[in-house]
Amino acid sequence: MAEFVRVATTDEVPPGAAKVVEVAGERIALFNLGGTVYAIHDTCTHEEASLAEGDLYGEVVACPKHGSRFHVPSGRVLSLPAVKSVAVYPVKVEGADIYVSPEGQVAKAKPHRR
Ligand code: FES
Repeated sequence: MAEFVRVATTDEVPPGAAKVVEVAGERIALFNLGGTVYAIHDTCTHEEASLAEGDLYGEVVACPKHGSRFHVPSGRVLSLPAVKSVAVYPVKVEGADIYVSPEGQVAKAKPHRR
């Protein structure tokens, strides 16, 4: 079982904000949704784009490049052109410190509606 790694402080990711951190060589995007911090892989599964730079709509982030939407708490892809979900990583907050486990899980994508 991989260790949690301290990646940021809560001050650095206030509610509604995102921040990219690196854990075990992977770019991971932290999102603070209403006080709860989530971690997903930062790179869109369509092409190279940073999801941390996308716009947030509730629990959904839209890729800044072509607009694929991802559900932040699960990493699940919700709309084309991306068809694969991004990995989601366990997060824990202790005091003012945010920790992420490098053991990401990828949710199965539901078929897109046509
Ligand atoms: S790079 Fe994200 S939708 Fe194309």
